[in-house]
Amino acid sequence: MFTFAHLSDPHLAPLPAARLSELVGKRVTGYINWQRKRRFVHDRDTLAAIVADIKKQAPDHIVVTGDIANIALPAEFPPGRDWLEGLGSARDVTFVPGNHDIYVREGIKFAGRQWGAYMSGDDGLGSFPFVRRRGNIALIGLSTGVPTAPFLATGWLGTTQLAEFAAVLNQAKNENIFRIVLIHHPPVSTAARHKQLLDAPVLKRVIAEHGADLILHGHDHVHMINWLDGPNGTGVPAVGVPSASAKLCNDRDPAGYNLYRIDGTRGAWQCELISRGLDSSSELIQQKRFMLLG
Ligand SMILES: [Fe+2]
Ligand SMILES: [Fe+2]
Repeated sequence: MFTFAHLSDPHLAPLPAARLSELVGKRVTGYINWQRKRRFVHDRDTLAAIVADIKKQAPDHIVVTGDIANIALPAEFPPGRDWLEGLGSARDVTFVPGNHDIYVREGIKFAGRQWGAYMSGDDGLGSFPFVRRRGNIALIGLSTGVPTAPFLATGWLGTTQLAEFAAVLNQAKNENIFRIVLIHHPPVSTAARHKQLLDAPVLKRVIAEHGADLILHGHDHVHMINWLDGPNGTGVPAVGVPSASAKLCNDRDPAGYNLYRIDGTRGAWQCELISRGLDSSSELIQQKRFMLLG
């Protein structure tokens, strides 16, 4: 049995003070958006309560699917590292970046420097896709974070990453390995096109051809499950979680996370999902528990 928690989009508050010279390009609109709206949604105490509840469950591993930062200011990355270290060691915590981490081009460099140990494979390489094996579990990390123009929150995997991803899935498909794909943008989303993963159709074709056992994402800040087509008529669940720091005043789902218990062998996997989050009194409750697979 392997247990792990999935949380996403902590959008760490408060936003550190920005130098005027840093507020250029896309950061300007992001800064205004934070001051006008986002700072009233993303709450550090809420995030701390979610993390405390995760720790209480004592999972074997924790995965975080992006958006630690908000506008990728240099000063957002060291606190991001402190937060990751608070979750656990880089061996026990896996992170993939989101669009807010790579809000501007320098975000790639800052994230690599500060968070690289959490977003690299067992081979120590920081390129995407990366693969981490934990027993008969494979965690496959993708990056959809690319710098975009102001007002765009799109994601992009690109042909090189998708080709390598297909090869990783293909290599593992005949082995006794449960393949978990970590990606920030959802492969299926009802969000506006300017917030979507632009090459999702190609991703879905790769999944349909090579299969995967579970896809985990963030970005839309809501609980969601969509079933993608896998090979030979199988279905592959893509599961999203809300922002782990979202207060109840949010118009999307309040903070929550999912806990998974995986057992079994190839062709007979069992995957239990326990969804936990805030209720209307800001107490953490167990909302749902069901078998996702098996
Ligand atoms: Fe986000
Ligand atoms: Fe995002």
